[in-house]
Amino acid sequence: MCPPAHFRVTYSINPWMDPTKPVDQALALFQWEDLRDRYRALGHTVEILNPEPGLPDMVFAANGATVVDGRVLGARFANPERTAEAPAHLAWFRAHGFTDVREPEHVNEAEGDFAVTSSWILAGQGFRSSPLAHDEAQEFFGRPVISLELTDPRYYHLDTALAVLDDTRDEIMYYPGAFTEASRDVLSRLFPDALPATADDAAVLGLNAVSDGRNVLLPLAATGLHEPLRERGFEPVPVDLSELHKAGGSVKCCTMELRPATP
Ligand code: ARG
Repeated sequence: MCPPAHFRVTYSINPWMDPTKPVDQALALFQWEDLRDRYRALGHTVEILNPEPGLPDMVFAANGATVVDGRVLGARFANPERTAEAPAHLAWFRAHGFTDVREPEHVNEAEGDFAVTSSWILAGQGFRSSPLAHDEAQEFFGRPVISLELTDPRYYHLDTALAVLDDTRDEIMYYPGAFTEASRDVLSRLFPDALPATADDAAVLGLNAVSDGRNVLLPLAATGLHEPLRERGFEPVPVDLSELHKAGGSVKCCTMELRPATP
């Protein structure tokens, strides 16, 4: 995670961002610390990346790299405003003992568009990541990558429309309305038992959630997901990240998952 020390909305690269709207920086930091503390209270280790001035979106650490089996595929941002975040992430990995680190050839916004289940890597395209990056990820990780096409600009990253609930059982939730009809068909074939989210839950970034296989940390307003999650044996953990929503990001965007090498 990367603290929102320099968080602001100074440009607009998605429909959530309105640079004329004020952001309460102290509140953003307080909310982010609450998320970090909840991970720790649940027993998870949180590594911290130093935020850099001039990179207001750097708090969205999920976009900085994708780590699967201890292998690190760096990011290449679609927008120049975020370009300099990628080397900052790579430097962190190199300084922390990761040796299998690849600088990508094609545009990919990391876990913004890559979701890792037990059988596949689901990969979004349409707004940010290039379909060429999907092939690159498949070759690098040696896992089958399933391309999915996003159609609604509010759900510009895969992780705004789909969340992995249990990566040992291919269990996901998603908002069908964010995808093309063909991609919806692909999802229903691969995940016939997925939890379908409503337009209302998607509109409060409810799919931008992180699950440890039991606890699902999700945006506060996504209350419609609580019951369906409980029915499936998950514990919803609501988190208020309202200030970060002003940049189009929430729980998952603030969280990069470091998936270790499997022994
Ligand atoms: N303002 C950022 C952008 O548009 C938000 C990124 C949110 N991150 C995410 N993983 N969806 O790039």
